[in-house]
Amino acid sequence: MKKKDWFTDWFNTPYYHTLYKHRNDIDAQLFMKNITAFLSLPKTTHILDLPCGKGRHSVFLNSLGYKVTGGDLAENSIKFAQQFENESLQFRVHDMRKPFNNKYDAVFNLFTSFGYFEDDNEDLLILENIKKGLKENGLFVFDFLNAIKVKNTLVKEEVKKVEDITFYIKREIKDGFILKNISFFADGKNHSYTERVKFLDISKMKDYFNKVGFTITEIFGDYKLNKFDSENSDRLIFVAK
Ligand SMILES: C[S@@+](CC[C@H](N)C(=O)[O-])C[C@H]1O[C@@H](n2cnc3c(N)ncnc32)[C@H](O)[C@@H]1O
Repeated sequence: MKKKDWFTDWFNTPYYHTLYKHRNDIDAQLFMKNITAFLSLPKTTHILDLPCGKGRHSVFLNSLGYKVTGGDLAENSIKFAQQFENESLQFRVHDMRKPFNNKYDAVFNLFTSFGYFEDDNEDLLILENIKKGLKENGLFVFDFLNAIKVKNTLVKEEVKKVEDITFYIKREIKDGFILKNISFFADGKNHSYTERVKFLDISKMKDYFNKVGFTITEIFGDYKLNKFDSENSDRLIFVAK
């Protein structure tokens, strides 16, 4: 039997949301406020937030007046997000490796929601799906980790207590992937998950975007929209058409 992909399991657990609790709504709201203002997006814009997780960006974007659709593979996250639905805010289970049924004015791929797959062709397939899902002159906002900074500042071992769970975290860069092993005891059992995100630096990402025919119009290095700097920036953010 084929082993389930790590991202199908881990993101669907409550423990993932506990560990990343600090990545809260404040981060999400600051970024969304800045990027929508920078892009001068009209209120008629229909945004696809993919993958949306539990909907923290989607809900805020909708509160700013935008029509938003959120899609994610994790059923539990979508079920949670659906409590916030209204006429202009919808959530759906969707695998971003599959094409979309609709066309959008903008697609947002936020908070390192890319690079999970072994094969580069799967990464390209996702970008192609996004491109096909955009209306003419549609915009793509892509927010990924800065691989160079991750490499230069890698903390190999860390112990983190969040609520009543102690997470033992080990990080390494191996075979072109940034690996983060997370083990902990919770609900009467030992658990262990490994996040695997491809080591995609700015040149590799630019190469991907060129291959699928995206034109990159802006490159930012953080949620305040400062310029990208490969040594110091926390994020790699592209705006593309
Ligand atoms: C790091 S989280 C970020 C979620 C959200 N953007 C946020 O900032 O809260 C990555 C998300 O990607 C989703 N995901 C992973 N693989 C996916 C796929 N093939 N299709 C759709 N969503 C996927 C996971 O379920 C998870 O919610």
